[in-house]
Amino acid sequence: MKAIVQDSYGDTDVLRLDDVETPGIGPADVLVRVHAAGVDPGVWHLMTGRPYLVRALGFGLRGPKVRVRGRDVAGVVEAVGAEVTRFAVGDDVYGTCETGSFAELAVSREKRLAHKPVSLTFEQAATVPISGVTALQAVRDVVHMGAGQKLLVIGAGGGVGSFAVQIATSYGVEVTGVCSAGNADLVRSIGAVDVLDYAVDEIDSRGPVFDALIDTAGNRPLALLRRALTPTGVAGIVGGEAGSGAVFGGFERQLAAPLTSMFRAQKARPVTAKENSADLEDLTRLIDSGAVRPSVGRVYPLADAPQAIADNRAGHARGKAVVRVLPA
Ligand SMILES: NC(=O)c1ccc[n+]([C@@H]2O[C@H](COP(=O)([O-])OP(=O)(O)OC[C@H]3O[C@@H](n4cnc5c(N)ncnc54)[C@H](OP(=O)(O)O)[C@@H]3O)[C@@H](O)[C@H]2O)c1
Repeated sequence: MKAIVQDSYGDTDVLRLDDVETPGIGPADVLVRVHAAGVDPGVWHLMTGRPYLVRALGFGLRGPKVRVRGRDVAGVVEAVGAEVTRFAVGDDVYGTCETGSFAELAVSREKRLAHKPVSLTFEQAATVPISGVTALQAVRDVVHMGAGQKLLVIGAGGGVGSFAVQIATSYGVEVTGVCSAGNADLVRSIGAVDVLDYAVDEIDSRGPVFDALIDTAGNRPLALLRRALTPTGVAGIVGGEAGSGAVFGGFERQLAAPLTSMFRAQKARPVTAKENSADLEDLTRLIDSGAVRPSVGRVYPLADAPQAIADNRAGHARGKAVVRVLPA
């Protein structure tokens, strides 16, 4: 099968479109014929092995253990392992995979897949798993947003941010989005009642008015995040690429957040997404009810996956980019 592979860590020039063996499946696995695959900053981290923390976390010290890039997947079940009960050959599915989704076939664990929302195309569905699950867990489990509260979403036009705006809005939360001027129309169109252009207004320019914030971009210091929050407000730290260091890649803020919150009413908490099918099914319900609509960015053919990764790294993501593997 055709796949985007790499043998060593590096920039996009280590990637090539090649013929590789079809991956085998274990008893709890599902083989998926990939129609579309999402592109997010995590793909760049696994391609480069940066920050070095990625290598220490088990993705491969000298080179990537998984040679095929891409994790978000939407496609059709081609085969199932002996213990799989929720899926059958021919089902439309979406989720995250183990073997790399920039490929014609990919292996996913049953516990990381759900049936594709009927209202979505494969391209739309491929944008959901990593970003949507992260946003859902941030809004629901980390900052615990409820109706009538005020939430600030930093990076509101990007993959995680655009889902966070919509999920919170569906809970009756009043959302303000932080983004560049170019993303302001998108962020308003998905539910934000107010938008801050970060080139003009810093995030504390409205005063300490937000019950919570979800931070996905900019790597602002925790002290600045606190200035936008009410005295009992909560900051959920998802990530951010700007100015991130080679060793921890901005993860320092997530490590520091609980320590700096110990003796304060204001809290800062890390968001560490746990991919699972129950949350994907919750997202399916939100999507099929019309409350959440994926915001698809640029669509690239499989051979152009390296360009998709480079474009995402260059910044200013508007929705989420997709690699189309099977022609529509
Ligand atoms: N903790 C976890 O479990 C987890 C899970 C998924 C992702 N992440 C991390 O979360 C981060 C966001 O991921 P993503 O997929 O949403 O990335 P993305 O799609 O690239 O979106 C980032 C967005 O931030 C905006 N932005 C850039 N600089 C900004 C600034 N200074 N202030 C405000 N907004 C700014 C960008 O566009 P504009 O500048 O045009 O507005 C873009 O829309 C990444 O670092 C990723 O690695 C963490």
